[in-house]
Amino acid sequence: MKSLLKIIYDVVVGLQYGDEGKGKIAQKLALIPGLYQISARFNGGPNAGHTVFHEGKKLVLHVVPVGILARLRVNFIGPGCVVDPVLLKAEVEGIKALGFDSKTIYLSELVHLITPYERKIDGEMNKRLGTTCKGIGPTYAHKAHRIGLRVVDVFYLLSSNGTEDYSDIEMLEQFIMSYPLSLMPIYRQDWLSASEESLKEWAEAVQWLGENISIAKANFFLSDGEARKIFSERKSVRVLAEGAQSVMLDNTYGTYPYVTSSNCMPSSAPAGIGLPGFATKGRVIGVFKAYNTRVGSGPFDTELLYGSGDLICEAGKEFGSTTGRKRRIGWLDLPDLQYACELAGVDELFMTKVDVLSPGVTGSVSVCFSKGGGVATYKQFDAWDSSHIKRDTDITGSFRSFLDLVEEHLGIHVETVSVGPNANDLVRTKPTPEGVGYR
Ligand code: GDP
Ligand code: IMO
Ligand code: MG
Repeated sequence: MKSLLKIIYDVVVGLQYGDEGKGKIAQKLALIPGLYQISARFNGGPNAGHTVFHEGKKLVLHVVPVGILARLRVNFIGPGCVVDPVLLKAEVEGIKALGFDSKTIYLSELVHLITPYERKIDGEMNKRLGTTCKGIGPTYAHKAHRIGLRVVDVFYLLSSNGTEDYSDIEMLEQFIMSYPLSLMPIYRQDWLSASEESLKEWAEAVQWLGENISIAKANFFLSDGEARKIFSERKSVRVLAEGAQSVMLDNTYGTYPYVTSSNCMPSSAPAGIGLPGFATKGRVIGVFKAYNTRVGSGPFDTELLYGSGDLICEAGKEFGSTTGRKRRIGWLDLPDLQYACELAGVDELFMTKVDVLSPGVTGSVSVCFSKGGGVATYKQFDAWDSSHIKRDTDITGSFRSFLDLVEEHLGIHVETVSVGPNANDLVRTKPTPEGVGYR
């Protein structure tokens, strides 16, 4: 296959503390006609919340790749992810209700499953970190401990006769009830309780998913599934890898220990999807807001304390897509952004939420451009009205100066700015000649 086929993957990555608008940008890219055949998630789980709009309806995607909304043939939840069956069922129900084919959602059999036990442990253990309490950390920890539950473990149970028979719900319930035995050596006894209803709900969700989405083999890209079929029809296949969380929340390169538990970097994408070794990296698309937000605990050098960020919070609707928590607000931090861009190897940038920093919300806009000796130094701009920005030549005045400073500091082109929550509220900062793009 190697000599005949070219597989290229582009990665969308968050460059701040998550919630930069990755979902919306990935949606825009996925909708470019004929560009992508496969979309995939490679890290994280229901801690992520990617807000998108489809025909005016708001949808928050947690683990399903946004390519589903572009009706791509394969929308893959890769082995680098963790999944809570109960939450995935609810997510898929929402997608089905909009008329999308849920069988184009492929869940890798290597994905680790979050159970009510991991959720409970997360809530008990990780209060100081301000996690989303979705069981993310414990599930990745159990994977590393080699005591976790994978999709393949429970689906073999459900189809013990080798056929796709998802009826043996009782056996599954028994199985999930005995699962805490393997957790006992690690945790306090009182953390290992789960109600009978929650376990039943979990087992029923697993069964429902077996019937409503597709389960992908470990070697999905090389076996006889739909991905392989796409490969056989084409000389070149392009994969859109939609990152969850961000560089600054990456388990290794972020602000440890105030990070998530997965690897969020673009370099983790091929491993977290399980792409064949000959797949090549295409573009790394970095997404950041014109200001900065953070949910949960951890350092935030440019944070607007004492309530002055409240107006930006309100105007930007800065409340967590997953937990509804109020996001902390701060100014754009160029040294941090540069760190993230360099580590991630960003090729191009998308700046979102430009519309939020309008004169009705804030008198001026600050940008931190240096943190020498632990002292942050800022440059100030007048707030701008972006409502007239429809094309590149409309980018003038204060916002033009702001954009120039960002590009100059980072040495990377800001390809597109976003001036509203809809997929079409995007403005290219330079005219794009016909035919030029990712191809
Ligand atoms: P993600 O996790 O990176 O996909 O981002 P979230 O969906 O969690 O948060 C981004 C929020 O900003 C969502 O509510 C989007 O609808 C919204 N959004 C995205 N781009 C813009 C923009 O340019 N302007 C405004 N006002 N809202 C935006
Ligand atoms: P998206 O993909 C913003 C934050 C949590 C917490 C820390 C650890 O929507 O950008 P976890 O539950 O992962 O163990 O929490 O990471 N966090 C996010 N913040 N956006 C996200 O995802 C996040 N996923 C996790 O708030 O501070
Ligand atoms: Mg989000």
